[in-house]
Amino acid sequence: MNPASDIAVLFVCLGNICRSPTAHGVFREQVQRAGLGERVRIDSAGTGDWHIGHPPDRRTLACAQQRGYDFTDLRARQVEPVDFEHFHYVLAMDQQNLADLRALRRGRGVEPRLFLEYASVAPMLEVPDPYHGGADGFEQVLDLVEDACAGLLRHLREQHRL
Ligand code: 4NP
Repeated sequence: MNPASDIAVLFVCLGNICRSPTAHGVFREQVQRAGLGERVRIDSAGTGDWHIGHPPDRRTLACAQQRGYDFTDLRARQVEPVDFEHFHYVLAMDQQNLADLRALRRGRGVEPRLFLEYASVAPMLEVPDPYHGGADGFEQVLDLVEDACAGLLRHLREQHRL
């Protein structure tokens, strides 16, 4: 992590092994390609504690690999109240994540938002949890995440003159 970064973004889901690490890894790639790797700090976390220290789900890794991403270095952690003070954007994958984040925040620090607010084409506001479903769900996560990450990067460029 680079403490001198201009902007810090935290992606949050339930387990931090499927959706938020996908957003973490895709956004990292897009930010690096844009030459902004030193200016944007990126992390992900889960509201739950079951997978702390685990790498992303093997289905997430396989789906990512097919599109040329490598998320194997990522490890799950649980979101903490102090995250609302250390990140400028705390972005939830679904409404339950958002409700859990609001309860954890207790009125201090940045307000969490839904990640898909930054999507251009998504006809939905939530990234569906793929954990108990089939391979299609993981493809859909990547489709939604790639689009919303591009929108988030556009937003950061406009709002923060990156
Ligand atoms: P994620 O998916 O929130 O996208 O990481 C899940 C991963 C694990 C569980 C639920 C959702 N779980 O119940 O263990």
